[in-house]
Amino acid sequence: MKIISNPFELKEQLKGQKGSVGFVPTMGALHEGHLELIKNAKRENDFVVVSIFVNPTQFLEGEDLDKYPRRDEADKIICELAGVDILFFPSAQDIYANDEVKLEAPNVRGYILEGFTRPGHFSGVLTVVLKLLNIVSPAKAYFGKKDAQQLHLITLMVKQLFMSVEIVAVDTVRDKDGLAQSSRNVYLTPSQREAALKIPTALYSGAKLVSQGVVSVDEIRSKMLHLLSPLKVGYVAIVNRDFEPIKQIEIGNTIILIEALSGETRLLDNIWL
Ligand code: PAF
Repeated sequence: MKIISNPFELKEQLKGQKGSVGFVPTMGALHEGHLELIKNAKRENDFVVVSIFVNPTQFLEGEDLDKYPRRDEADKIICELAGVDILFFPSAQDIYANDEVKLEAPNVRGYILEGFTRPGHFSGVLTVVLKLLNIVSPAKAYFGKKDAQQLHLITLMVKQLFMSVEIVAVDTVRDKDGLAQSSRNVYLTPSQREAALKIPTALYSGAKLVSQGVVSVDEIRSKMLHLLSPLKVGYVAIVNRDFEPIKQIEIGNTIILIEALSGETRLLDNIWL
């Protein structure tokens, strides 16, 4: 596995690359969820690039940028063992200039749910993903369904900017107890982790209500909110796959999303129906 930090060097390296390139962008602290993205990329491409870059522009003032988990050496070993061909490991100076061209997330879908809690977050995500995709020029890029709004906005960006890459959505990986894998889970104490299990429980019971024939979004939301107590809930939202609000469940076109705090840790999870 080659480790490259300079974007121009990576572009040069990939220029003569034969076969298809699959790309997995990450912020490191790799877990099973990332490995699933890498596995998919390996299965579907001849050559796999992973990036590790804790992108400062997607963190708001006062968020956890400085304490975001960093496990660079372990991550390198994980990538090597997973059969990654190139690990792209840039610094902030490699990616950003002083006077930047800015990409702005869409006014509505970029500023609801996560975008409401973290205004500007998705502009940072889209900017860095656009840069990374331009550097790597992959045939396919892999993102987790767990960050469903991020996945939606990236898919929208690729479409609206007429980009050639295919965005591949990969299922969420859960621990045995049902908690969705996330780099931020390391912040949880055992009791906070126990409390966090209310999130997948509420999602599964929402899905169960749907399987029992309940279609009213209001009814499902209020039952789920009840199950999440006493967690501090940011939102329980039920939207279609274009992230538009709906009144009735449409099977095959619905996502139920939760954002909740366990202790100080903000957790996201969702289920696609
Ligand atoms: O999901 C993430 O890890 C990040 O938001 C991403 C897509 C790598 C952009 O920094």
